[in-house]
Amino acid sequence: MAKFRTIWTTEDRYVEVIDQRKLPHEFVTEKLETYDEAEEAIKDMTVRGAPLIGATAAYGIYLAVREMIEDELDGSFLDEAFSALRASRPTAVNLFWALDRMREALDNCEGNFLETAWNTANAIVEDDVETCRMIGVHGLPIIEELSKRKSGEVVNILTHCNAGMLGCIEWGTITSPIYQAMEKGIKVHVWVDETRPRNQGSNLTAYELTRHGVPHTLIVDNAGGHLMQHGMVDMVIVGTDRTTRNGDVANKIGTYLKALAANDNGIPFYVALPSTTLDMSIRDGLKEIPIEERNQDEVRYMIGKGPSGEIQPVLICPETTPASNYGFDVTPARLVTAIITDRGICDASEKGLLTLYPEYK
Ligand code: MRU
Repeated sequence: MAKFRTIWTTEDRYVEVIDQRKLPHEFVTEKLETYDEAEEAIKDMTVRGAPLIGATAAYGIYLAVREMIEDELDGSFLDEAFSALRASRPTAVNLFWALDRMREALDNCEGNFLETAWNTANAIVEDDVETCRMIGVHGLPIIEELSKRKSGEVVNILTHCNAGMLGCIEWGTITSPIYQAMEKGIKVHVWVDETRPRNQGSNLTAYELTRHGVPHTLIVDNAGGHLMQHGMVDMVIVGTDRTTRNGDVANKIGTYLKALAANDNGIPFYVALPSTTLDMSIRDGLKEIPIEERNQDEVRYMIGKGPSGEIQPVLICPETTPASNYGFDVTPARLVTAIITDRGICDASEKGLLTLYPEYK
């Protein structure tokens, strides 16, 4: 697998990210030097995807500690940074998990505050790389089995949004088993939902699959059901922004409809879950997971590359038509065939999750 990362540190110990708003047309990086630049990068979706949001928030706290020390500010500055980063996006629980891990490290720090923040943020990043690799190790046998059942014919995998490396650091969650299957010579093909309104599928998943040489086809968000009815999908695999104790799964808006269609057609529907996306403090996903609502202009406009090569927004409805923009939906556990985690595969249920995560008993 070609190695590149979505977030990295520079020689002068700042942070750099890929501006994902410009992909696939331009590969532009952005340097983050203050916590509010990290906060803005999360809010405006320069970075996105649950694990990457968490990593960026962790570095945001490191940058806040650095600003506090360099500008001789008091501890209230750091408290403000924690609050601002906590409020940057509501649904992906990795954000809160990463901030809690940073807080705990700093609260228990008896030595160098800045080094502690730096080391903890770096550890969050390295842990995510290993977590995603392990999701691939555990997910690979599922693809292998499907390939065997099809006598080595192409395994068709449908995915929604981007839960690839661009949503994480390396490997990705849903792409890790796919990349590992490719490395073993298993034939795969991915149906990529475009994922309106931000088009993480067409802009990001298609980009990253292209970079990794994975055969794929872009489809409109509403095509999945038709493909499933015609035997053109062997499995669905999606990421998650928050999975509850009961196994309810919040993911990008439209995921639920894919799960319904998969269920109706007897197609396995898998969720790739890093342990950092587990929220064992809540049970009922529908009632308890906060669903982000974003600016209506993300729905009213589409952004793309025009004939002149310029990236521009295009209005796709009457000037005065209002839109609503729910960012996520919740797929009830009963529609999830199994959860693929970095520790193994389990049922989407409290019992299933506790077999892999007994520390939450
Ligand atoms: O709004 P986004 O792009 O941050 O939403 C991302 C998703 O819904 C992903 O599927 C999810 O975060 C998993 S990323 C491994």
